[in-house]
This record gives sequence, C-alpha cells and structure tokens, in this order.
Amino acid sequence: MKKISVSVLLFIMIMSVLIVHPVTAEDDIIEIGVLQLVEHASLDAAYRGFVDALKEAGYEDGVNIKIDYQNAQGDQANLMTISERFVKNQVDLILAIATPAAQSVASATTDIPILFTAVTDPVAARLVESNEAPGLNVTGTTDAGPIDKQLELLKELYPDLKTLGIIYNSSEVNSEVQAKQAEEIAKNLGWEVKLGTITSVNDIEQVATSLAGKVEAFYAPTDNTIASAMPNLAKVAEEHSLPIIAGAPEMVEAGGLATVGIDYYKLGAQTGKMAVRILKGEAKPGAMPVESLKDVDVVLNKDYAKAIGYSFPQSVLDKATKIIGE
Ligand code: TRP
Repeated sequence: MKKISVSVLLFIMIMSVLIVHPVTAEDDIIEIGVLQLVEHASLDAAYRGFVDALKEAGYEDGVNIKIDYQNAQGDQANLMTISERFVKNQVDLILAIATPAAQSVASATTDIPILFTAVTDPVAARLVESNEAPGLNVTGTTDAGPIDKQLELLKELYPDLKTLGIIYNSSEVNSEVQAKQAEEIAKNLGWEVKLGTITSVNDIEQVATSLAGKVEAFYAPTDNTIASAMPNLAKVAEEHSLPIIAGAPEMVEAGGLATVGIDYYKLGAQTGKMAVRILKGEAKPGAMPVESLKDVDVVLNKDYAKAIGYSFPQSVLDKATKIIGE
C-alpha cells in the first residue's frame, strides 16, 4: 500500500516537472535571422546592442534562441539570396540593419515579423505606411540624425564658411533624403552647396577630389557606401586641409572632424527590446510605432583636426561628449 503511493507520488512529480518544463525539440528554438548590409562600425554597434538587449531579457544565442547572422558585404544579390533563405527557413523574426537590407527582407516576406534598425527614413524607403502606424509586418528604429545641429556645429567651428560639398551615394534613399535636408539647412545658413554623387566606393576619391577644389568643407551623411570607406574620403579631405562633418560618431572615428550624432549601440538595444515584445507575443510589428533616440553626442576627432591644421575652440571642446585622439 505504502509502496504504491510512493511510486504514484513519484510519477506525479516527474509528470509535473515535464509539464512545466517540456523537453524542447531543436525545432522549437526561436530562430532570428539577422541581415546586415555591410560591415562598418555604426552598423556593427547596432547589432551588438540588439544581441545584448535580448540577452538581458533572457534570450541568449546558443542557449534558448539561435541567431543566424549574415552580412551581405554591400552586395544587392547577396541581400536577396539571404532574405530568401530566411523565408525558406521560416525564421521566427528578422532583424535588418540599414535601409537596403530592410528593403530586401521586406520584399521577401509579408508575414514573418521584421524589425529594422539604423534606417534613416522608413517612410521614404517604403518600409512602413507611417512611423506612427507601420501597418504591415515591419517596424523598427530610425537613426535620422540632427542634421541641423551637425551643420550648426560646422558653422560654430568655421564661422566664415561659404561653400559646402555634400558627398553621397545617389542610389541609397537614406542618403538622398539626408542630402536634400542638408542642402536646405546649409542654404539657410547662407552657404553655397555643391553636390557630389557617387555610385560605389570606387568613385569616392575622384568625386571628393573634384569637389575639394570648389568647397571649404565636406558633409557626409550616414551613407553606407561612404561609411564603409571613410579613409578614402578622409585622405582627399586631409590633402586639401578640409573639415568633414559626418552623420555618425563612428564615421568621425574613422576619419572626420566632428558630428552631433546618436549612439548606435543604444539604438540597436532599443530594437532588441522591441524584439522581446514581439517574441513574447505582447505586440505585433504593424501596431508598433517606429522608435528613435532622443539623446545625441557631440563627437570630435583631434587627430583629424591635427592632420588639417585645425584646433577646436574651447567652447566646442567644453560640450564634447567624446573626443578622439586624447
Ligand atoms: N542610416 C543608414 C541607412 O539608413 C545606415 C547607417 C547607420 C549608416 N549608421 C550609419 C550609414 C553610419 C553610414 C554611416 O541605411
């Protein structure tokens, strides 16, 4: 009698443990496909932030989730192949880093939830119906920067400036949008603007050289082509002792004079938190507004300043969040 009740008790205990912690088959592990356009420091930082935020919420790669990280090396054909593979594998969620990557995955699936990060203008890129109400299976975080503050900083650094050269890849919609805004702001500041458009990394030196003879400063927005080859632009600008104001802190680190920009690690982490809500079934992308960061950092590069024979005024040094080369 006693023996039976002990084994019944044991049976009940084992069953309840199994019910509470079901043995998960490999297939049940949450799979996240990550598509990053190209390798450059801003995008890498956003990815790190995303992974860390998931981990903090208890979703750790190799433990209870599987992250399939893919980098398209800036190649359109790679973007498509990888997007299609994520759909074929029926991943549970996709993270797309930078505009062209987001456009590629969004055109590959209308049902797998997609989050994007580091996208300048999700509406212009046709990723969402509006930032407030994205509508479909796609939402995320935008990195639209304070271009007005960036150019006002340039004015503070070079009060007598008269001509600005804007260099960007005309086939990146994110750059097109920023170049247009920068042109308008620059004109309001009383500057003459010259646009230099590139179509690949190979054009940078030539277009920059031709601009360098006509302008007193460069503005480079968060353009993926330029960001992946900042030293090419910096080389030309340094030869002509010209400042570069860039769209992102990591671009300034790679060879630019200054920026007022956001922290891409934080932007990625914020996207990770959005992913957690989706994975928990608390929200659906279509009803999650696009998010952004409010805080911006003033980033100065003293090494670059030295290379072009410039020294920052104390007023600007005083408000710097980060100084490279100290
Ligand atoms: N905003 C860019 C896009 O929408 C991506 C990006 C983020 C970027 N940070 C950058 C590009 C820094 C160049 C430099 O695609």
